[in-house]
Amino acid sequence: MNSVLQFQKDKAPISVLTCYDYTSAKIIEETGIDAVLVGDSVSMVMHGFESTIHATVDMMCMHVSAVRRGTNKFIIADLPFLAHRKGNAYLMESIDRLMKCGANSIKIEGADDNLNAIKFVLDSGIPVMGHLGLTPQSIHQLGGYKVQGKDEMKANDLFDDALSLQEAGCFAIVLELVPAKLAKQITEKLNIPTIGIGAGKYTSGQVLVLHDMLGMNRDFNPKFLKKYMDGYSLIKDALQSYNNEVKSKKFPSDKESF
Ligand code: KIV
Repeated sequence: MNSVLQFQKDKAPISVLTCYDYTSAKIIEETGIDAVLVGDSVSMVMHGFESTIHATVDMMCMHVSAVRRGTNKFIIADLPFLAHRKGNAYLMESIDRLMKCGANSIKIEGADDNLNAIKFVLDSGIPVMGHLGLTPQSIHQLGGYKVQGKDEMKANDLFDDALSLQEAGCFAIVLELVPAKLAKQITEKLNIPTIGIGAGKYTSGQVLVLHDMLGMNRDFNPKFLKKYMDGYSLIKDALQSYNNEVKSKKFPSDKESF
């Protein structure tokens, strides 16, 4: 099992990918990908909700268990919307469940007002990954999926938040939709790794949403995304071929018959 703490020592770039299901986890297991994030993006990618605020502890647990059955890699599980704002008992119960389902660590969005909850989790012996910049659970407050930290005041806030998360004891911080220059400055200042998504090339590692980098969503084309295949067309063509062959009685042939 990988330890994210070790990545920092090596200084080798860290590759993280989201994963939500057993079959994909089995494929990821056969790659050099360093760690798997069972992100609350599961609510959008797998369940079709419009934002991550629809992820629940039940939903996260189901997907963490499925991923764990497919891989031995280091799993980071997102703490879903408001689970850290409902009191410590609820927070601990949620994390207890996520860890027992197979998570190795928990990602919690934000700093500032969430710092006490983050410290409480860290004090309980749970590795915590921070998440700054565009924090999707606050999308209604942020007013859309926009680059964060563009003006000097916001950039300074982000910088301070990153330092306070490090000081609290987080083992790494996701920087989402942050100007590359700011992500570089933060990365250079911190002793812990930064994992970027839409944060340029100077972070210690990168994370992408699996379905996005596989090109499964034809309509999702943000600047930061590189599609490593055209999954949408490949799958659609395969489905259409199957349909055509059933209709034309080409499938099944003698080869597929007993
Ligand atoms: O839920 C998620 O997929 C994430 C990544 C975008 C970092 O938090």
